Amino acid sequence: MAEPQVLRHPLVDVRMTTLRDETTDRATFRAAVRELTAMVVYEAMRDAATTPLEVRTPVATTTGAQLANPPVLVPVLRAGLGMAEAAHAQVPGAVMGFVGVARDEETLRPTPYMESLPASLAGRPVFVLDPMLATGGSMAYTIDLLAARGADAVRAICLLAAPEGVERLAQAHPSVPVYTAAIDERLNEHGYIVPGLGDAGDRQFGAM
Ligand code: URA
Repeated sequence: MAEPQVLRHPLVDVRMTTLRDETTDRATFRAAVRELTAMVVYEAMRDAATTPLEVRTPVATTTGAQLANPPVLVPVLRAGLGMAEAAHAQVPGAVMGFVGVARDEETLRPTPYMESLPASLAGRPVFVLDPMLATGGSMAYTIDLLAARGADAVRAICLLAAPEGVERLAQAHPSVPVYTAAIDERLNEHGYIVPGLGDAGDRQFGAM
């Protein structure tokens, strides 16, 4: 199992503080989600393969780069939707799939309600976008769906993780690395990350 990749940068800490602050309004919260997503995806793309591409500048011809195998981006609805646009802006050539997983607030178990994915994911990097890796249930469930379509190079892209979620994912999918902006102390009895930031879906889109 790979160690989770936790971003260490003052700009990450500042955006994370905005997310944590209970007085942050919805638009500012969504903007911080987008900005942090861009940073985490940037880090997750660090080892992406490129192929050479000849490019003409106004002055001369030179060799540039293009992504050899852009990832498939899979936001987990609802909360992951706020990460989709920023991730796509970082990797405009990416294809996007969608998975809808709600959390049963009593059992904390993932309850699927939507799946829209490419038929085959074999040989393609796949980034699962979910801001909160709490129990790890939704992430593990989503990766099961992806594996059923042949995915074998999945990365979990989060903004905030709990140690319990990291551990659960490592047990269920040891080959899946976690990229996150921070790891907090623990989960509380309601499955919320402590100190956390509250419900990431509600804070972006409003309470249902
Ligand atoms: N999902 C959230 O939105 N917040 C948490 O703290 C845990 C799961």
